Amino acid sequence: MEKTVLEQYLNLADKKIEAECCRLGKKIPYIAEDGVYKKDMRDVNLSWWTNGFWSGMLWQLYKNTGKELYKTTAEHTETELDRALENFEGLHHDVGFMWQLTAVADYKMTGNPVARRRALHAATLLAGRYNDAGQFIRAWNLDKTGWMIIDCMMNLSLLFWAAEETGDPRYRQIAIHHADTAQRVLIREDGSCNHIAVFDPESGEVLEKPEGQGYASGSSWARGQSWAVYGFALAYTHTGKKEYLETAKKAAHYFIANVALTGYVSLVDFRAPEEPVMLDTTATACAICGLLEIADAVSEYEKKLYKDAAEKMVDALVEQHCDWNPQSDGILQHGTAAYHREEDTEVPIIYGDYFLIEALMRLAGKGFKVW
Ligand code: GLY
Repeated sequence: MEKTVLEQYLNLADKKIEAECCRLGKKIPYIAEDGVYKKDMRDVNLSWWTNGFWSGMLWQLYKNTGKELYKTTAEHTETELDRALENFEGLHHDVGFMWQLTAVADYKMTGNPVARRRALHAATLLAGRYNDAGQFIRAWNLDKTGWMIIDCMMNLSLLFWAAEETGDPRYRQIAIHHADTAQRVLIREDGSCNHIAVFDPESGEVLEKPEGQGYASGSSWARGQSWAVYGFALAYTHTGKKEYLETAKKAAHYFIANVALTGYVSLVDFRAPEEPVMLDTTATACAICGLLEIADAVSEYEKKLYKDAAEKMVDALVEQHCDWNPQSDGILQHGTAAYHREEDTEVPIIYGDYFLIEALMRLAGKGFKVW
């Protein structure tokens, strides 16, 4: 993509997000309803897994523009999340998403020692969720003691960061055990993946692979697939283990082949019935970042496949699925939280905007490597 075109989109994003910052103040956004972030996630659920994406996006834009408003607003969100860290209850595997994009981002950008402490606290909570019998990090809370999910591949960066930062290899060992198990249990022969695997938490035996946020058990939830693409690519970046890169490529080939059938924008589930047609642009945006991570890891000869596919997907998103009007909230339209959650279908979701901005920054050669 032309650098000038990317710059135009980054400028549009800057204008829109700056306006959102002014409207939101210290609120934490999630889903825009009728073009407005009506709910403040501090009131709805401070421990909600998406509460770091707003801050992550602001750090990306701060890197691009140096605007103080982005830095101070990102810092506010990070400070607000302290209450969630203190409360502990309600937090789960997604502490990675929450503190990677707030505290780790802050620490990498500014060297703030308080941010470092918060991130190490979160990493230690994540490591504490490890099940040694099954060699996986358990998902969610309550009775789901034996559950692992593909999404958690994205949380491993927090553990790799903590190992690097403290010199304590246990964080990395847990991340590697989890990635190995996910590769063995969740990734299928054709490169698609299961969302969930349920283990006997005592013996570590795999019991079942039930339906998750996709259409049904055995189907192919697109955002889960994008977590596999980006998550395994990042696991390779952090470890240099070739099998993770091969898995990321296999998951990517499956993703690319499927989005090529629908104009380079993903359906919510690649194995759902033909009707109703439901899109999930957030899966596309996340997969783009994964494809760019793979492109950075492979030879010049191979790079083109991943970069070209990523650019086709960016083109499709920016030309058909973005609202750049600074007066309304949410850039990326038509994100879907889950196949069977009608109220959150084809709406602007905060993580869609985050991954879109990260993708534009990466393509413009300015990406802030936060993961
Ligand atoms: N991590 C949950 C989701 O992708 O919706």
